[in-house]
Amino acid sequence: MAQKIEYSEYLKLGQLLNCAEPRSYALGRPSHDEMLFITVHHSYEIWFKQLLFEVDSMLTIFAQPKIQEREMGILVSRLQRMVEILKVLVHQVDVLETMTPLDFLEFRDLLYPASGFQSLQFRLFENKLGLKSAQRMNYNSLPYHQHLAGTGGAQARASEEQPTLFECLEKWLERTPFLQTDSFDFWTSYRQAVEENLNEEDRLMRENTFLTAEEKAKNLEISQRSREAFLSLFDDAEYAKQRADGSWRLSYKAIHAALLIQLYRDEPIFQLPFRVLTAVLDLDALLTQWRYRHAIMAQRMLGHRVGTGGSSGATYLKQSAEQHRIFTDFYRLTTFFLPRSKLPVLPPEMRRSLGFSYSDGE
Ligand code: HEM
Repeated sequence: MAQKIEYSEYLKLGQLLNCAEPRSYALGRPSHDEMLFITVHHSYEIWFKQLLFEVDSMLTIFAQPKIQEREMGILVSRLQRMVEILKVLVHQVDVLETMTPLDFLEFRDLLYPASGFQSLQFRLFENKLGLKSAQRMNYNSLPYHQHLAGTGGAQARASEEQPTLFECLEKWLERTPFLQTDSFDFWTSYRQAVEENLNEEDRLMRENTFLTAEEKAKNLEISQRSREAFLSLFDDAEYAKQRADGSWRLSYKAIHAALLIQLYRDEPIFQLPFRVLTAVLDLDALLTQWRYRHAIMAQRMLGHRVGTGGSSGATYLKQSAEQHRIFTDFYRLTTFFLPRSKLPVLPPEMRRSLGFSYSDGE
């Protein structure tokens, strides 16, 4: 049986709480807000550790050739936990902003050239989610890993070689059954439904008596452009071209599966996969929110100064907020949704397969 343990011993509070040492106090020019600055950074790093723990556990589940339904539930709850942690991380900026730019200037010179840019855990998190080094913005003309201290650079590089959450999701999507069965070919039926829908929209526009001939021509031209965008998804060569130029990242098969799951999410079997996709959208949104929130805070604190790490400060942070996004394909996919009423009707045997065994398939 395990020995009885005391609270502070279990949590190793001696070590944890004694590592906050404001430099301004050590140097005899105390600056009150430096303590808050350190506490907030420590909290972030502790949460980064938890995020890495969660993402690693998901990568282990995804590494299996087949994922059991029970494990799908675990994946969803781990993703949702990460989403909740990210909400805390976004909110924590408010606490740091109780420090004014003048308070920050009191001790900022003591930080040079340290910067959050050197946070190894943050880089590992980005890499494990699926940020590619080629996608990263240049920073002082050096690759990001050369800014990391000690073995940090090598660790970050090594993490780039490991499977990422993005790639695992892609492979899992590619394994989705039901894209083509004896009774239902999703892609062909969907294309037909899309074309019918677009024709119907054009017809309504032509018959609209409130529009002038000129307005109708203009609207039809716009409609033609959206038709081309829509139909480009059904052209695999065009998709391959767009994937090569970086507009899409997911494989063609994974895109089909993601669309199938989104459109037929009400079918019981797609419920958990749908929640996975929704949590991934939330994750991407919150990480982007954190990046923007941090960028705006940096701008408030620094104005047009460069960051302590030497970057263009807030400008670098704002640009990277968009450029470093990972799961944008899942957002872009929404462009190709049709309302439920316009979706191809599933044949009864397909609906039965998508229901649970106790369902009567009605
Ligand atoms: C007064 C508060 C803060 C200011 C003014 C600030 C400013 C900056 C600036 C200017 C950069 C760009 C790199 C550089 O030139 O230094 C940066 C990067 C970064 N900071 Fe902060 N920061 C603050 C607080 C925080 C906190 C609390 C965290 C939490 C860990 C953090 C994490 C990061 C990370 C991870 C990066 C790298 C972002 C990337 O490359 O996408 N920062 N910060």
